[in-house]
Amino acid sequence: MKVCVVGTGYVGLTTGVSLAFLGHEVTCVDHDQAKVDMLRGGRCPIYEPGMEDLLAEAARNLTFTTSYEDAVPGADVVFVAVQTPSAADGSPDLRYLRSAAESVAQALNHDFTVVVNKSTVPIGSGNWVDAILRDSFATREDRPEGVEFAVASNPEFLREGNAIADTLYPDRIVIGSDNPRSLEVLNRLYRPIINQTFTAPTFLPRPEDANAVPLVSTDLASAELIKYAANAFLALKISYANEIGQLAAKVGADITEVARGMGLDQRIGSRFLQPGVGWGGSCFGKDTKALIATAAEYNLEMPIVKAARDVNSRQRAIAVERLQDELRILKGRKIGLLGLAFKPNTDDLRDAPALDIANSLLARGARVKLHDPVATERFRKEQPDLAPYLSETIDDVFADCDAVVLVTEWAQYLELDWSKFVGLMRSPILLDGRHVLDADRMRRLGYRYVAVSG
Ligand code: UDX
Ligand code: UDX
Repeated sequence: MKVCVVGTGYVGLTTGVSLAFLGHEVTCVDHDQAKVDMLRGGRCPIYEPGMEDLLAEAARNLTFTTSYEDAVPGADVVFVAVQTPSAADGSPDLRYLRSAAESVAQALNHDFTVVVNKSTVPIGSGNWVDAILRDSFATREDRPEGVEFAVASNPEFLREGNAIADTLYPDRIVIGSDNPRSLEVLNRLYRPIINQTFTAPTFLPRPEDANAVPLVSTDLASAELIKYAANAFLALKISYANEIGQLAAKVGADITEVARGMGLDQRIGSRFLQPGVGWGGSCFGKDTKALIATAAEYNLEMPIVKAARDVNSRQRAIAVERLQDELRILKGRKIGLLGLAFKPNTDDLRDAPALDIANSLLARGARVKLHDPVATERFRKEQPDLAPYLSETIDDVFADCDAVVLVTEWAQYLELDWSKFVGLMRSPILLDGRHVLDADRMRRLGYRYVAVSG
């Protein structure tokens, strides 16, 4: 089938490249010429494991352009995957979505095109995009005859760092539309994934337990709400582990053991119970905020979701409090942070806990040393105020430090020869922000090991 993807960010690029890999003819449009140039050269503007390999495997079905005229005409499906950042009041800022929808409508010319909201949009946006498309289409002097289109929602559930596996081997596919023809088109588009009939990429074999993928085919509003409900649930699951973690620290329990013991109950499940400095990234913060904002429009409170957010921001403050408990005085102390990206295997810094922790330490008069194995280039561009504190080497982070915090659990840090660094520190305080290091081993090596919860 012929597919157009608008926006080549984390979501759009993964969608476009994966669909091209499955054999669809895909054109990706982005208004950023530099990104398009990079992608044409086979290079990936974001750090996402496997993406350049998949780009190479899918190249013959992929085109990149800045022009909607090159991308939209003839497309059976147009995915809109532009960013939807939070506005000041917590509601998503939809200006990019509006502009993309207007541009799509100016170029539509196929007998039937499904326009899919891939961006996370407020509930009800499907209808809103439909209205924009129709208004913009109606302004065209060259309006072609016999052109029909309908809006659908097809939320993504991909985790950055795992985006390709989450797309090719998903737990489920959700499609929502009030137009049966759209559902049929999307069903056809995703059939190779639903039935798992495609040949797996060489670098990403099909998991042994991969079965046919369940398809949730529903109305527009339900599909939109599924996305928010799922992300908010994952966010509150983590916050719950963190809330219990605070009690565990008081009563002398080990939160890692508690989470393991809880998670083995299959009704609970062990994933997303990892305690620590809490969640960041582009989705959980924005989606929980948007869910609360949407509910408020209907005079509804969302106390559980609000609590999940409060607990999450408290975790970042607790990390700083733990350092203060250990060091008594933060002024003038040198503190190293290992890991800046909001989680491993991505260079994404959006709402990363490290940013809040670094700023809070600086505001208290401490000095910081910052390190990340992958995200430093992006960090320099996006965080110019914090960039002077970057360290090139791990030795430099530890040298003369009063404490080091493991903020993001990159494999590179877990595999460090930790025995080499303890002697470099002024005082060997090690705060494990993710509960991933072996506490006994670290203590044997001479560190004063502390964790966020205990
Ligand atoms: C996505 C989703 O779209 C968002 O709703 C979800 O909640 C998080 O993930 P993401 O892919 O991370 O966003 O966004 P980003 O990496 O910022 O990519 C958006 C792309 O769209 C950029 O490449 C940008 O250049 C492009 N864009 C934006 C356009 O081509 N045209 C526009 O009008 C606006
Ligand atoms: C998330 C959702 O998982 C995905 O389905 C959605 O569509 C986009 O948002 P992403 O933000 O890429 O994906 O990362 P995810 O792996 O969910 O992690 C989010 C944050 O939670 C990270 O900061 C991570 O460190 C944190 N986390 C995750 C925990 O603190 N504990 C856990 O147990 C799991």
